[in-house]
Amino acid sequence: MQKETVKENFDNMASSYDAQWEQLSAINDSLHLLLGGLFTELKDDANILCVGAGTGAEIIYLAQRFPGWRFTAVEPSTGMIKVCKERLSALGLEDRCSFHSDYLETLPISDPFDAATSLLVSQFILEQDERINFFSAIADRLKPGGILASTDLSADLNASSYQSLLQIWLMMMKHGGVSPQALEGMKNAYGTSVSVMSANELSKLIQAAGFDEPTRFYQVGLINGWYCRKGFKKI
Ligand SMILES: C[S@@+](CC[C@H](N)C(=O)[O-])C[C@H]1O[C@@H](n2cnc3c(N)ncnc32)[C@H](O)[C@@H]1O
Repeated sequence: MQKETVKENFDNMASSYDAQWEQLSAINDSLHLLLGGLFTELKDDANILCVGAGTGAEIIYLAQRFPGWRFTAVEPSTGMIKVCKERLSALGLEDRCSFHSDYLETLPISDPFDAATSLLVSQFILEQDERINFFSAIADRLKPGGILASTDLSADLNASSYQSLLQIWLMMMKHGGVSPQALEGMKNAYGTSVSVMSANELSKLIQAAGFDEPTRFYQVGLINGWYCRKGFKKI
C-alpha cells in the first residue's frame, strides 16, 4: 500500500481501533507476554524504539512491566498517535515516552536503542526492496546486538493449507465481533494491499536488512512473530 493510503486508513479507524479488537485481546495479551519474556534480559533503564506504535498497546504492556524503561513511539498516523498519547497519559506513562508523528526516516538521530518492536507494520509495505529498507532503518537505530521483535501476517499463499488456515482465521475474527464487511475487506487485502509472504521469505528479507537469522517466537493463526539481533558485521 502507498504510504499515504496506509496513513489515511489508520487515521480513519483510529478512534474505533481499540474497541474493534477488544474481544480479540487474548491475541495481543499472549504476544505481549512472550515479548516481555524476550526482552527480560535488557537493562533496567533500557530505551525501546516502537515503530508503528499504533494506539500504544505494546508500549503500555512493556512500560507497566518494566518501570525503568523509556520508549520512542514512531507512528505516521496522527489519529493513531493521538489515541496512543491519550492512553499513555491516562495511565501516567506519558513522561516515559517520546512521540514521533511520522515515519522512522525523519526521527532525529539519538543514542542507539537497546531493542525495537515492529508489530504488524511491515506487512503494509508491498515492495520487497522498500521492506528491506524498513528493517534496515530499524537496524541503523539499534546498538550492535540490539533485539528486534517483529510480527506480521505470514503464510505461503500457494500452500494447500493456506485456504484452510484463512477460513479458521476469518471465523475467529467473526466470533470476535469483526463485521462481515470488514472480514471481506481483509480477505481481499491479503496478498494484494497487505503483503503476506512465507516465513522463509520474510526471514531472508529481515536478514538482508542486517539482522541475524530470526527465530519465530510466536504464532497465532496468520500472525507470526520473530526476534533477531542486529548483526555485528553490517552497519
Ligand atoms: C496494525 S497497526 C498495529 C499497531 C500496534 N503495533 C499494535 O500492535 O497494536 C499498524 C500500525 O503501523 C503504522 N504503520 C504502517 N506503515 C508504517 C511504516 N512504514 N512505518 C511506521 N509505521 C507504520 C500504522 O499507521 C498503524 O498504526
